[in-house]
Amino acid sequence: MSEKRRILTGDRPTGRLHLGHYVGSLKNRVRLQDEYECYFIIADLHMLTTKNSREDIEATADNARGMVLDYLSVGIDPQKSTIFLQSAVPETYELQLLLGNLATVPRLSRLPSIKDMARAAHLDEDTMPFGLLGYPVLQAADILLPRANLVPVGKDNQAHVEITRELARRFNNLYGEVFPIPDDLVEGATLPGTDGQAKMSKSLGNAILLSDDPATVRKKVNGMYTDPNRIRADIPGNVEGNPVFTYLDHFDPDTAGVEALKARYREGSVGDVEVKARLIETLETFLTPVRERAAYAAAQSGLVDQIIYEGTQRMRQEGSDTMRIVRKAMGLSSTYNRIARKAEERAKKLAAEAAKAPAATAEA
Ligand code: TRP
Repeated sequence: MSEKRRILTGDRPTGRLHLGHYVGSLKNRVRLQDEYECYFIIADLHMLTTKNSREDIEATADNARGMVLDYLSVGIDPQKSTIFLQSAVPETYELQLLLGNLATVPRLSRLPSIKDMARAAHLDEDTMPFGLLGYPVLQAADILLPRANLVPVGKDNQAHVEITRELARRFNNLYGEVFPIPDDLVEGATLPGTDGQAKMSKSLGNAILLSDDPATVRKKVNGMYTDPNRIRADIPGNVEGNPVFTYLDHFDPDTAGVEALKARYREGSVGDVEVKARLIETLETFLTPVRERAAYAAAQSGLVDQIIYEGTQRMRQEGSDTMRIVRKAMGLSSTYNRIARKAEERAKKLAAEAAKAPAATAEA
């Protein structure tokens, strides 16, 4: 078996991924998959905490496929990493229920992340589902099921890893050392949107997708927010808070060239058109191999499904191993074993009696 330390992280399957996902987490995952044994979860049960209509659930298969295609396109390698569907691992539900008894309601209700998600889903104190309150407990089950050591997450999920540590410690104290205490690894920068808003997000309509074609990328970049005070190219411009330059900082490997362009922008000797043209070229250089990998994978019918299927089978095996240990540590297996043993004894006794007096039974 592998000696590598384990990572578990993932995303809710809500749609195609964008440059913000790449900068914030995917880039990091690609780098980590050699050093760690990685598990990437398609968290469709977490999606249900705020989106659980028939249509939402029906859309999950395609959303998951699109997301995994995006993973592959940036270099996540299913030979190295396990990609799996959360709802298809029954032990997840089981462990969440058991961990739920170790988490307190006030600890969960105070979390800003839960309040934010509730607000975004138009839920208030009176309509808050039990499931949404339990969001971090479900996440703890995801992390502890493969007994992960490291959890790369965005800032908004950091508190959930803290809760996971608390639950793991509490479990270990009560029932014996079963779970490693996982560390969190706070992920990279958030990328601003093309409109200059703090965060790129598909729902805000300010995202450049990893799967956008060249014409779409060009159109989005040309429409990008820049320094609003700069109505002519000879007016000194602001580089700070200008998303065009933020993107160049992230994607243009020629730092000296970018710095020179910034200097010209600040002194008012370059127009937005030239800066955007450079960004389009930079993004095309980045996205061309990404699109090629996506096209290669998409051309093989059923490949993405096979990757998710095989990953899920692997995770199920892990989940079943962990839950056997958990049930044993808690004494749940022994409760049932004692009952089952008694029941079997009785069944055997009855069978023996029936064998001794077959006529009596037949007459009765
Ligand atoms: N909560 C994550 C999100 O914001 C998704 C997720 C579910 C996750 N389970 C996880 C992340 C476990 C890290 C570890 O979409």
